[in-house]
Amino acid sequence: MHEVLIAPSILSADFSGLGEEIRSVEAAGADWIHIDVMDGNFVPNITIGPVVVKSIRSASKLPFDVHLMISHPQSYIEPFAKAGSDIITFHIEAENDPVEVIRLIKYFKKKVGVSIRPKTGVKAIEKILPMVDMVLVMTVEPGFAGQGFIYDCLPKIEELRKIFKKDIQVDGGLNESTALEVITAGANVIVAGSSVFGTKDYAGAIKKLRGGA
Ligand code: DX5
Ligand code: ZN
Repeated sequence: MHEVLIAPSILSADFSGLGEEIRSVEAAGADWIHIDVMDGNFVPNITIGPVVVKSIRSASKLPFDVHLMISHPQSYIEPFAKAGSDIITFHIEAENDPVEVIRLIKYFKKKVGVSIRPKTGVKAIEKILPMVDMVLVMTVEPGFAGQGFIYDCLPKIEELRKIFKKDIQVDGGLNESTALEVITAGANVIVAGSSVFGTKDYAGAIKKLRGGA
């Protein structure tokens, strides 16, 4: 059994006081800080770059879990690594050579995650599974917070857990009830945007996501 970790996604935080939001969520019991990086190309939205990661680094001691939703991850591993990322996750659907992206992330001594979109099967990452520390299964189309959980993705988590013993992270539409479904299917890292930052009680929200209401 894997320990369940909660990674609040700052995409749903109040950006006018991002440092304070991060301090609050750490005090509320978060395990990782999930940072959504979007380039307006791989996904139809633009969010956070390395300068922001660098500036919020001092707000928390928690691992920075950086989710790259960008077309050319290879070109941005170095700046995100140097800005203070601890885990760098890229999408298998991005145009670069995944083996080279993994090599670069490891070169900077960061943990490697690979992510699959809702319509991408486990087969697409099978060959590189031995090279990564984490798989991120998207349960919404990447791009925006606050979307509904895609239940069709659940069997993929079960399939993956049979062949992958490290961290399985799930991202998109997770709340108390869908988090329980993905944990039962074999996931152990819960990303949550609106169901944490959309509430007034971050500690209560995190506790519920862990399954300990
Ligand atoms: C979506 C992002 C998610 C998002 C999750 O593309 O990768 O991390 O912030 O938000 P919720 O939990 O609201 O679906
Ligand atoms: Zn994300």
